[in-house]
Amino acid sequence: MLSQISRRTLLLGSGAGASLLLAGCGSATAKPLSTAGSVDFSNQLNIPPLATSTVQTDGTRVFELTAEAGNSTFLPETSTPTWGYNGSFLGPTLRAQRNEKVRVEIQNGLPSPTTVHWHGMHIPAIYDGGAHQVIEPGDGAEPEWIIDQPAATLWYHPHVHGTSEEQMTRGLTGMFLIDEETTDPGLPSEYGIDDIPLIVQDRSFAKDGSFKLTPDATAGLLGDTMLINGSVNPYLNVSTQAVRLRILNAATARVFNFGLSDNRSFAVVGSDGGLLQAPANVERLLLSPGERAEIVVRLSPGEEVVLQSHPQELGMSNALTTRVGGNDTLDLLKLRAGSNLTASPELPDVLAAESSFEMDKAMITRGFILKDMYINGKLMGMSRIDLSVGAQTVETWNISNTDNLAHNFHVHGAQFRILDIDNRAPQPEFTGWKDTVFLPVRATARIQVKFGKYKDAVTPYMYHCHFIRHADMGMMGQYTII
Ligand code: C2O
Ligand code: CU
Ligand code: CU
Repeated sequence: MLSQISRRTLLLGSGAGASLLLAGCGSATAKPLSTAGSVDFSNQLNIPPLATSTVQTDGTRVFELTAEAGNSTFLPETSTPTWGYNGSFLGPTLRAQRNEKVRVEIQNGLPSPTTVHWHGMHIPAIYDGGAHQVIEPGDGAEPEWIIDQPAATLWYHPHVHGTSEEQMTRGLTGMFLIDEETTDPGLPSEYGIDDIPLIVQDRSFAKDGSFKLTPDATAGLLGDTMLINGSVNPYLNVSTQAVRLRILNAATARVFNFGLSDNRSFAVVGSDGGLLQAPANVERLLLSPGERAEIVVRLSPGEEVVLQSHPQELGMSNALTTRVGGNDTLDLLKLRAGSNLTASPELPDVLAAESSFEMDKAMITRGFILKDMYINGKLMGMSRIDLSVGAQTVETWNISNTDNLAHNFHVHGAQFRILDIDNRAPQPEFTGWKDTVFLPVRATARIQVKFGKYKDAVTPYMYHCHFIRHADMGMMGQYTII
């Protein structure tokens, strides 16, 4: 593994920008995809099961998670080799309360080393499941921490440096929901009924039914078949007037521009790290890989409306836009409202107290330039700590994408607020806690990051582009909290 990484790194180091740019254009020409209107929505949406847990006498909630290989059926009469947690594809939804102590007993039943990273979680670096917490086949790990952050839709996935995209594509992805009863504003919250997780992904299939695992281009793997919670062409029967969708862009390269088929507006109520201060009504919602949003859609009895993804202007060449799905029009999920709908309360005007977004003054400002697969001219160095921050401090990070390719930027172990993008205040739906920010070509985002309290001078957290192939290629750095 290590020699593989260093060889890749060497290749990148000497080949430098030119070859990467070439790879970005690719040899095969990608074509825009349009499935709008041609999807039959014949499959009931799969809902990932809630993970079972036991509570020990000291109050610790214990989950068991085994990464394993299996087979799944996505296409008629076709079996696809897949990986999953406690099953053959994806993983159960873990759910815990704020202030609860949790432990996850992980077993690696795969033929490859893996890690389990808790994306968006405030967690000690040794338990973060980043590139350094590799679990060998047959081994296990037992991360244990106290949930200490607001209610949010987080997720988990592998993070082995160099093979993250491949492992995620095989199926290793799940959600982790944090609840907080004391601050609950009364949103739809019955899991699988009116509170629905949506793990949105794309895949391509080879003739033998296996997933395509090798990308055509630097942008990463772009699939022509959409999977939502592992379902192809799914519908969801809705029995309530309002339904909350917790959307996770779990694709590795595709940007989704979500909208509803009749262009009605919907309310965004949460971002990566928790609820917004107030609902934001939008008709379109752009999520790049790794980002989440919680939305609430209201329905009338008997109606049907389709969650879609629409073309979007990403400021880059048409060919590169196509490479991240930016020219595609996709039917994703049909919402079918029943003829009698259980009443849902109106959305509250206030979802979270203003004080929950308060930050100390940032004392330090740092700059990050994203270009080719480099961050500040460097590829990921497993044994290099790029920077150290003070525990519980706030810093301003200026992140500039000077590339001709879109990127995004994700920080482990912390949540941040977007101050501005190209000197403009973020749209209301992006004003809440974030851990991943999208960076169109030549965009600069200023973010304020609030770092955690777990000091560890030795074990780093990562920050990286979440077009995860870019991270695999080295677009990643490491920081410690001291
Ligand atoms: Cu989704 Cu490094 O993370
Ligand atoms: Cu992460
Ligand atoms: Cu990138």
